[in-house]
Amino acid sequence: EVGRRRRLLEAHKIADELFVRALGSREAQTAREFLTDRGFTAEHAKHFGIGYAPQGWSNLHDELRRRGFTDDELRASGLVSEGQRGLYDRFRGRLMWPIRDMTGATIGFGARKLYEDDPGPKYLNTPESPLYKKSQVLYGIDLAKRSIAKKRQLVVVEGYTDVMAAHLAGVDTAVATCGTAFGAEHIKIVRRLISDDGTGGEVVFTFDGDEAGQNAALKAFDEDHRFLAKTFVAVEPSGMDPCDLRQHKGDEAVRALISSRRPLFEFAIRAGLKDYDLNTVEGRAGALRHAAPIVAGIKDSVLRPGYERELAGWLGLDPNDVRRAVAAAGRGRR
Ligand code: GTP
Ligand code: MN
Ligand code: MN
Ligand code: MN
Ligand code: MN
Repeated sequence: EVGRRRRLLEAHKIADELFVRALGSREAQTAREFLTDRGFTAEHAKHFGIGYAPQGWSNLHDELRRRGFTDDELRASGLVSEGQRGLYDRFRGRLMWPIRDMTGATIGFGARKLYEDDPGPKYLNTPESPLYKKSQVLYGIDLAKRSIAKKRQLVVVEGYTDVMAAHLAGVDTAVATCGTAFGAEHIKIVRRLISDDGTGGEVVFTFDGDEAGQNAALKAFDEDHRFLAKTFVAVEPSGMDPCDLRQHKGDEAVRALISSRRPLFEFAIRAGLKDYDLNTVEGRAGALRHAAPIVAGIKDSVLRPGYERELAGWLGLDPNDVRRAVAAAGRGRR
């Protein structure tokens, strides 16, 4: 209901303020150092609304109760957890990123541990709640949506710090999923944002080179074939993510990574070719057997023949041989 939603948003606003205030406290020294070490100033932290959840079991809980929130509302908010002895603060001793909706209202948090030995996962997120649906959430969307609509481009990076780094480097269309893979519901939201009417618009995925990240993103592509033709991939060969990149090589390196994007189809086809020795007939034949089913899977009737010709070029083979191999692979699929 509307009234309930408004209450939960109010609780998040109070949490936001408490966390931002706590980032200035003595206890938050390590949290501030984390930001500095990553190349973020106090001003940057303020711009992104970064905060700190104090140690202790009931700082936020007490504050919200003082402000008249019921236990039932607190449970629904996801800001507290419930144990044998009652409710306690879900986020403790962590660096806090407010996760906001399109309108800029905080609907949840991403929270990073500050010491290796701290209990729990490295990143802890808000659980599913009436406000927070992780399959739809995109961190940074409030800051990026204007540029996304204008440029008809959206950049997907992996983490919170990567969104910050991208924006500070001038890639102001960057967003990230929050502890989950980019999925079908994200695709729907993104298509609306880039006004996907068939005349353009693109989505760029950055991968930090680890296979897990690549596979996670690639899974989403299977679900929406029309989306594939708008999808680009930018891989950083050094394995650095945008945050590392900005810190070690500067803003220009982050922009260069995005500029280096290649179409997803090209990326998917070429990724497997490096396993073959293209200097031998056998190697080229093996590479063709590997790539033909991928090309055959391209449903777009202009792109598929285009990639047949490209593949012939990459492999140094007769385009007619490639076309026949792709056709055969296509029959094999049906
Ligand atoms: P930093 O050390 O913070 O820079 O992280 P990283 O770059 O080594 O993190 P990684 O690339 O592993 O994580 C990127 C994003 O994945 C984070 O922003 C989170 O959203 C998510 N993530 C990473 N670790 C966890 C985890 O333990 N639990 C959950 N739920 N999400 C995680
Ligand atoms: Mn990673
Ligand atoms: Mn990373
Ligand atoms: Mn790391
Ligand atoms: Mn990182």
